[in-house]
Amino acid sequence: MDTVPPGLGRLKNKAALVTGASSGIGRATALRFAAEGARLVINDVDAVRLETLRLAIAGAGGEVRSVVGDVSKTEDARAMVAAAVEAFGRLDVLVANAGIIPEMDLATATADDFDHVMAIDGRGMFLSCKFAVEAMLKTGGGSIVCLSSISGEAGQKRQAVYGPAKFVASGITKHLAVELAAQGVRVNAVAPGTIATDGLRKMSEEYIAGVTAAHPIGRVGQPAEVANAILFLASDEASFITGAILPVDGGYLAQ
Ligand SMILES: NC(=O)c1ccc[n+]([C@@H]2O[C@H](COP(=O)([O-])OP(=O)(O)OC[C@H]3O[C@@H](n4cnc5c(N)ncnc54)[C@H](O)[C@@H]3O)[C@@H](O)[C@H]2O)c1
Repeated sequence: MDTVPPGLGRLKNKAALVTGASSGIGRATALRFAAEGARLVINDVDAVRLETLRLAIAGAGGEVRSVVGDVSKTEDARAMVAAAVEAFGRLDVLVANAGIIPEMDLATATADDFDHVMAIDGRGMFLSCKFAVEAMLKTGGGSIVCLSSISGEAGQKRQAVYGPAKFVASGITKHLAVELAAQGVRVNAVAPGTIATDGLRKMSEEYIAGVTAAHPIGRVGQPAEVANAILFLASDEASFITGAILPVDGGYLAQ
């Protein structure tokens, strides 16, 4: 059940784009952003679930547009940013969240598997940032939050294709933060540990049990817990933070 929780107006008047918003972390983030007063463009390839989210946000009085599209396609990425500019006259916040999370070891992974993940998690994030920044610079700047992962900061078993794509997310964050800081665009990332989403449920039981036990806090995280961290980094409360990769991982990376 989608609910828009009570908010404090922490994104009041901000125009925000959340990619991959139909499920999991993206959906929780869109709901949280709506509660905090953001005007939203939500994107996903899953049109049906995207529409249920749009209805939930609009039903709670939120300003929201949806754009069905694939972030790895140049014209789709351009169109979702254009939708924000058309509807709200600006784009202040991008959450580059869309991604796929395959579990594969090196022996079974093919070059096509590698290219497919890189196309969405890597190229898609690059394109989302590229067009978002183009729009942000026209109105004085903005804030980007990329979805990295513990797999984008440390090595793990069976992450031979996904893990490197998440290192791309960490890399884009740091390089763009330096390139854009003087122009008023902050770029940060969250590095979630294992989060209870559809993406996780597609993983093997063996993987889930092992990775859960590896979190010092003794459980996996919830999408809303990641959304809280994304909200902070996206908001003006994080005005002196750029290039940071914030673990949201129950202590996983502290080990
Ligand atoms: N779940 C976790 O444990 C976890 C941990 C660390 C990082 N992450 C990252 O968080 C992000 C969200 O993951 P999630 O767990 O919420 O997964 P999820 O599968 O629940 O949601 C991902 C969403 O992205 C959409 N999507 C996939 N390909 C797309 C494309 N080409 N264009 C637009 N949308 C597309 C899917 O339809 C889906 O709605 C991903 O970038 C993932 O790498 C997840």
